[in-house]
Amino acid sequence: MIGKDLSYAIQLLRAEAVVAIPTETVYGLAGNALSPKAVSTIFEVKNRPSFDPLIIHTSHRERIAAFTTEMPEAARKLAQRFMPGPLTLLLPKAEIIPDIVTAGSPRVAVRIPAHPMAQELLTMLDFPLAAPSANPFGYISPTTARHVEDQLGDKVPYILDGGPCRVGLESTIVGFEEGQAVVYRKGGIAVEEIEAVVGPVRVRSHSSSNPAAPGMLKSHYAPSAPVVLGDIEMLLPQYEGKRVGAITFQRPAPGIPAERQLTLSPTGNLAEAARNLFAGMRRLDALNLDVILAEFLPEEGLGRAINDRLRRAAA
Ligand code: TXA
Ligand code: MG
Repeated sequence: MIGKDLSYAIQLLRAEAVVAIPTETVYGLAGNALSPKAVSTIFEVKNRPSFDPLIIHTSHRERIAAFTTEMPEAARKLAQRFMPGPLTLLLPKAEIIPDIVTAGSPRVAVRIPAHPMAQELLTMLDFPLAAPSANPFGYISPTTARHVEDQLGDKVPYILDGGPCRVGLESTIVGFEEGQAVVYRKGGIAVEEIEAVVGPVRVRSHSSSNPAAPGMLKSHYAPSAPVVLGDIEMLLPQYEGKRVGAITFQRPAPGIPAERQLTLSPTGNLAEAARNLFAGMRRLDALNLDVILAEFLPEEGLGRAINDRLRRAAA
């Protein structure tokens, strides 16, 4: 069921049930992070392997200290600048966070969503919410309540509707190695924005076997149709007679029917492109295409995160 009833959502969450919630990045599948029962329901509903840890969500920076044991200076600066917002910090975990949340890791991922409905909900709760993106494991993240309903509607008792997600890409995940910031997942805050606050950072989000972020699996965000990346005009002749779709940045690709195209931002705005990406991929995926051809966006700002999702969709 989809609705806007915050008190019903709270009632379910207090009873250790799961609820899908809006955030400014993507919709999350939320449960009480301090309840191993609620957290194991999240893993079940998502069909997510138990080695892939969950982000916990809270309402205010002041609350982070209750769930972590340490805050490096760089983390403090980033929190000051980007929380609430599409940033997740990996910090040493406090005892109170159950091991099932972090898949046994000594670090916990913490985020403060900026979405007003998520803020209101989290402020009223006296526990943090563990929430992965509200999609079946490996599929495209949802950016509307309807996306969640389409795939998990029969498994989730309630979906809070906060409208379409303003950012449309998952949060940027930042951890710390010897006090230095390391980006583990490119997301809604550009690497350049992180660097403007803490100086040059390492980016380690491409490996498929990265023990620091086991969930950064190479094949992810994948529609059912195969995705092929490159120069669309060059690729197209190989698919004669096939149902071909296209994902482009500003201009549709010649030779492909308009309704099978996803043009991310005609004005060349990367934030708009990010906002349109996942919903557009779902629309194309519903057309039963044989293949989706996609071009890279400029490798700068949010373009880097979008290219990362396209690569994972193609993997
Ligand atoms: O924007 C977002 O981050 C959304 C919204 C709902 O908050 N959440 C989200 O969660 O994208 P999820 O579970 O789909 O992706 C979280 C990623 C996973 O790939 C996981 O491996 C990584 O974060 N992660 C979580 N906790 C971690 C930890 N303790 N150590 C390393 N990686 C962690
Ligand atoms: Mg996810």
